[in-house]
Amino acid sequence: MPEWDAGGVTGTVSAGLVGRDADTARLRGLVEELAAGQGGLAWVEGEPGIGKTALLAEAFAGAAPAGCQVFWGACDELAQRLPLRVLTECLQVRETSPDQQRAEIARLLRGRDFTGPTPLDVVAAAVQRLVGWVEQVSMAAPVLLVLDDVQWADEASLLVLAELARLVGQIPLLLAVAARPVPRRPEVLAARRTLLARGAVLERGGCVLHHADLVAVLLEQVVYPPPAGSVDEAAVHENDVDRRWACVHPVCSPFPEA
Ligand SMILES: Nc1ncnc2c1ncn2[C@@H]1O[C@H](COP(=O)(O)OP(=O)(O)OP(=O)(O)O)[C@@H](O)[C@H]1O
Ligand SMILES: [Mg+2]
Repeated sequence: MPEWDAGGVTGTVSAGLVGRDADTARLRGLVEELAAGQGGLAWVEGEPGIGKTALLAEAFAGAAPAGCQVFWGACDELAQRLPLRVLTECLQVRETSPDQQRAEIARLLRGRDFTGPTPLDVVAAAVQRLVGWVEQVSMAAPVLLVLDDVQWADEASLLVLAELARLVGQIPLLLAVAARPVPRRPEVLAARRTLLARGAVLERGGCVLHHADLVAVLLEQVVYPPPAGSVDEAAVHENDVDRRWACVHPVCSPFPEA
């Protein structure tokens, strides 16, 4: 591990994520199961910047080399007004898609091939067809579908998530979601409840990432223990490092329990 020296205080820098070994291992375990043909669910939640995306990226880096088809989408605060946009982008559903099914779904969403009465019917039909497409491609090779920033997901995409969650026991599909606790949208909380009810991996104090956890690890690994003789213990106490850190990490705001 690389060494650092800050004014005589030295330490080591971890190459991977700080304090996330257990979470990474748990998610990697889901990938191993997926590669062996077994689906799964994961819901990762935590405050902005706490490392949700980094954790998923680290844990899932081995999925494609293990033979899985990986689709990665991130919801967007503005695009939540556009039904299914995040999924059509990450699943590459375009009118020019090489396979007929995806091209048809794209045409459907553009209103080209639809004869029903309302736009709502278009979205409902597209939800079903997207679910069917994922189900079908998972027969060719296991599918890892990651949806990040789900706090901003549109309702139709959340419906796709819920529908896919029903299938993970039957098909090789690993559905992994990351979300901030706010904004607290009822439809996101409903999707969370659905995934958890279906056995999604969510471990409070594990996959739930809080600044307090990270700061505690950093304090342990970087600030303490000071090199013998290099720091005046009384001075450290006076500076009150713990209290200084305590001021900078915000109060956690976890999802309310259903
Ligand atoms: N445990 C960690 N060890 C090392 N770096 C970390 C750790 N957690 C987060 N980081 C780093 O902090 C930054 C923010 O992390 P990341 O983007 O994954 O947060 P996030 O929870 O996804 O935030 P957001 O809610 O805004 O999407 C990144 O540069 C990431 O590499
Ligand atoms: Mg993120």
